[in-house]
Amino acid sequence: MNGLQVLGTGRCLPGRRVTNEDFARTLDTSDEWIAGRTGIRQRYFCAEGETAASLATVAARRALDDADISPADVGVCIAATFTADRRTPALACEVQAALGLPETALCLDVNAACTGFVTALETARCLLLGGQMAGPYALVLGAEKISSLLDFSDRSTCVLFGDGAGAAVVRLDAQAPWAAVFGTRGDGQVLHGGGPDDPFLAMDGRAVFRFAVETVPRCIRAVLEKAGLTLGEVDRLVLHQANSRIIHGIARKLDEDPARFYENMQRYGNTSAASIPIALDEMRRDGQLLPGQTVLCAGFGAGLTWGGVLLRA
Ligand code: ACO
Repeated sequence: MNGLQVLGTGRCLPGRRVTNEDFARTLDTSDEWIAGRTGIRQRYFCAEGETAASLATVAARRALDDADISPADVGVCIAATFTADRRTPALACEVQAALGLPETALCLDVNAACTGFVTALETARCLLLGGQMAGPYALVLGAEKISSLLDFSDRSTCVLFGDGAGAAVVRLDAQAPWAAVFGTRGDGQVLHGGGPDDPFLAMDGRAVFRFAVETVPRCIRAVLEKAGLTLGEVDRLVLHQANSRIIHGIARKLDEDPARFYENMQRYGNTSAASIPIALDEMRRDGQLLPGQTVLCAGFGAGLTWGGVLLRA
């Protein structure tokens, strides 16, 4: 079936922990409002000197160590991000240099916001399948410094996000189930930022909420149908960690127990492309993701974009 097997994972959270109570000291907000509407209780922001590249490099090194493979065998390195430190070089190239990945590795960034990591997985799989890569392993990352795009006087956005990075080392596995489904609804109004006229991240929160609960269940059903699996045959469900209520809404639409969906936005906030690999790493290290298990990952976010893929742990 030519799916992907996860051989190792890693994560890196920056040094500045900010709780909901910390925000309530400077903004008209409260732990009750933030946690009640989103599930989020704290997040980490980059401290002085920390960058998307520094977080990505640490997460990637941990994933390589966990997989116990040599950097020399990496054929592809893809970083999913919408908050790279610079336009060029790509974050993936900075990771290549910092980790000493071979010069024969294809390195590139993917910008699909919160759908970035699943998009990067499918991109890596297709590149490996094409047979032209110089090494058998792909290093797939999600890394974000979203604090660089936040207006810290806007309570409706700044409390929702966090910085962080997660990484996975994957390789093709002929036996692993695979299906991938993606969607795009180009829209520069509902969710946007980082441009000359809109330097800060801005969104219509309710519209994003509705969009996620409408598209993600359809996407998950389409992935299952393509793979010939039922939801019950999938061991773990890992969605983008934007909001606990969104995950519960999606679970309701799928008629599934919300407890089957992993949640960690309580600790990290919405880390966009980093949220799924951070979750995979936590689960793997906590013994909640066991070798051979099938995982369904789905992301949704700015673009608007959405996507779902399968992985074998
Ligand atoms: N503290 C207190 N009150 C607040 C805060 C806050 N931090 N933020 C907004 N409010 C107020 C609003 O001003 C509004 O007040 P009003 O009624 O007096 O006008 C009231 O709370 C309700 O605001 P709503 O926006 O209607 O609240 P809602 O229940 O929709 O929750 C939220 C807002 C949490 C943003 C929700 O809509 C949501 O989670 N949306 C999805 C966001 C998301 O997932 N984004 C991910 C994509 S990010 C990416 O792709 C990069």
